[in-house]
Amino acid sequence: MRDRERDRDSDLDLEFDVAELRKVELHLHHEGAAPPEFIRRIAQEKRIDLGKVFDARGNYAYTDFVDFLRVYEAATEVLKTPEDYARLTTAVLEQSAENGVIYSETFLSPDFCGGSDVGAWKEYLHAIREAADAAERNMGIVLRGVITCIRHFGPDKARATAACAAETAGDWIVGFGIAGDEAKGKPKDFSYAFDMAREAGLHLTAHAGEWGGPQSVRDAINDLGVSRIGHGVRAIEDLALVDQLAESGVVLEVCPGSNVALRVYPDIARHPIQMLRERGVKVTVSTDDPPFFHTTMNREYEALRTTFSWDREVFAEIARNSLDAAFCDADTKAKLAKRLEETPA
Ligand code: ADE
Ligand code: ZN
Repeated sequence: MRDRERDRDSDLDLEFDVAELRKVELHLHHEGAAPPEFIRRIAQEKRIDLGKVFDARGNYAYTDFVDFLRVYEAATEVLKTPEDYARLTTAVLEQSAENGVIYSETFLSPDFCGGSDVGAWKEYLHAIREAADAAERNMGIVLRGVITCIRHFGPDKARATAACAAETAGDWIVGFGIAGDEAKGKPKDFSYAFDMAREAGLHLTAHAGEWGGPQSVRDAINDLGVSRIGHGVRAIEDLALVDQLAESGVVLEVCPGSNVALRVYPDIARHPIQMLRERGVKVTVSTDDPPFFHTTMNREYEALRTTFSWDREVFAEIARNSLDAAFCDADTKAKLAKRLEETPA
């Protein structure tokens, strides 16, 4: 190691336990956070044969991104009632709270919750909120929802989803987004759904720059008017775009473990999160679909600490970026900001 690097590194205090840090997570898919044992239990209760979803050890098993989406949707098939989603919410929030998360935004898809029928969706949402309120009382974790349409289900389904979003927009449903197979269709096809959500007062985010290159990030910004990008990491392939992200303050919901598990990058050392941050882009850290990628927020933080020598200050910056970019109201943010400041020394 060169002397200057050693000097710089010796100033860093890397002897801390990432588990103690309070965290804010902005990119989490509700069903994607379901522990495999939770899905198995519900399948058993309902006597549903899940088919090819788990490996011999009981973990989710998939071969690539498209197969991941198949397994995700197959596992989701067992969740058929508002009560199932209430139980899922409790299970997900227990995991997040155990990892020091004090605020989380979860992607909820009315497509999976009553087939995007507004009346049915309201019943699912009621059950989810009741479970979230109980988790806030019992574990101190605050949850808000971002309604997410699924790209490979097409623009018509996205409009029905946006109608559910517009009907339930408020202090708890705070955002609208799009996930799913980036290879299907273009962001422009979903402009109408995003316009509906914007008019209902929702904040906007879109998955882009995970499988698509820099142009997919540009398209999401220009055609959907989002303030955050889910992943967005492949912006690194175009430095003019990186500078534009830095100047405009568009925030990236970066999920390093997901990108490595799905082989967008071969390993964390070659993940661009550090380069994006160094060039002034507002990056945040999330888990995406944690049990699918054998990750947790603590594991993400630990990998970033050891790979990029991130110290407490960098993690504090990440948490601040995340809270600034959160879609919840100002009062909620102010309360959470206090709790972040109180992170144990
Ligand atoms: N749905 C769940 N996880 C996803 C991901 N990483 N990309 C796109 N859609 C998803
Ligand atoms: Zn995602």
